[in-house]
Amino acid sequence: MPSSLSGGREVGAPLGLKNTLAGRDIISCKDLSREDAELVFRLAEGVNSGTIHLEDTLAGRRVALIFVEPSTRTFQSFYVAARSLGAEVLSIHDPAVSSIAKGETLYDTVKMIEGYGVDCIVLRHPARGSARFVAETTSVPVINAGSGSQEHPTQALLDVFTIKSRLGRVDGAKIGMLGDLRYSRTIPSLCYLLANYNGVEIFFMAPPLLQVRREVELYLSERGVTYRKAMAADEIKEVMPDLDVLYVTRIQKERFPDPTEYERVRGSYVVDAKLLSYGRRDLGIMHPLPRVDELSPEVDKLPNAWYFEQARNGLPIRKALLHLVLGGAG
Ligand code: NCD
Repeated sequence: MPSSLSGGREVGAPLGLKNTLAGRDIISCKDLSREDAELVFRLAEGVNSGTIHLEDTLAGRRVALIFVEPSTRTFQSFYVAARSLGAEVLSIHDPAVSSIAKGETLYDTVKMIEGYGVDCIVLRHPARGSARFVAETTSVPVINAGSGSQEHPTQALLDVFTIKSRLGRVDGAKIGMLGDLRYSRTIPSLCYLLANYNGVEIFFMAPPLLQVRREVELYLSERGVTYRKAMAADEIKEVMPDLDVLYVTRIQKERFPDPTEYERVRGSYVVDAKLLSYGRRDLGIMHPLPRVDELSPEVDKLPNAWYFEQARNGLPIRKALLHLVLGGAG
């Protein structure tokens, strides 16, 4: 643990495990090993069950939240997580009322924030590569809270944590991903993290215009992960009975380079009781939220609608991650 990370009040090692995340940038799930993820999960489990208390472990530390894109869950859960660990939070949430609106560059914003003595920067930005760029700009750890359509690693951590806690395992899980797989950033991160587990099977369920990007397919192929694409409505129905989990995404309207393309796919899928009738009764339903019209509210009352619990899991996961990245004991 670098000495610069040892400020704040320490708790004894809650798990007695080596902290492999101390001082690291969390930019891509490609950089996270199974052990890294499991360390976060074990700490988050302890936080959830009340056996591990991280309060005040970040006392005297400063966390900057720079959000140059809309956010509800990610911003609020990082904010609450950092505050409940005792950190001071500096935030830029609404770019319209910060100097970004006056044309300040990301580089200048980061340099200025760094000058205020922050210990960690959490960044959400519309550009691919933005988090990596900031990590190269600053000496403090950077956590990617969403970099354009590229990645959203902390969402993937809470997604896999949810699968693990509800299904009881990740190895061998059969996961259907339905919706806008092309512009979603949660999908690539989730796939990269799942690639660390054994025997996972992924079913990409989307019309051709919304199918998963080639870069994700290549990564999965290189790692020997089994995946299959279902493009037509009939194929989607056919794979439904095989699934343990159905992960739904919203059409990322704001990322379509061509609005006419968006009009062509708008409303092309909806998860409702009818579609779910093709799946197993215990099929877990997940969604990173926000939803628009792709996930019917009638699904909310099902016991296997996991998405609100999934969103709640953002808090223990982000508490655990901030604690570890800022050098807390594992
Ligand atoms: C996701 C995101 O921002 O990529 N939301 C989130 O962080 N929970 C998904 C989305 O916006 O559709």
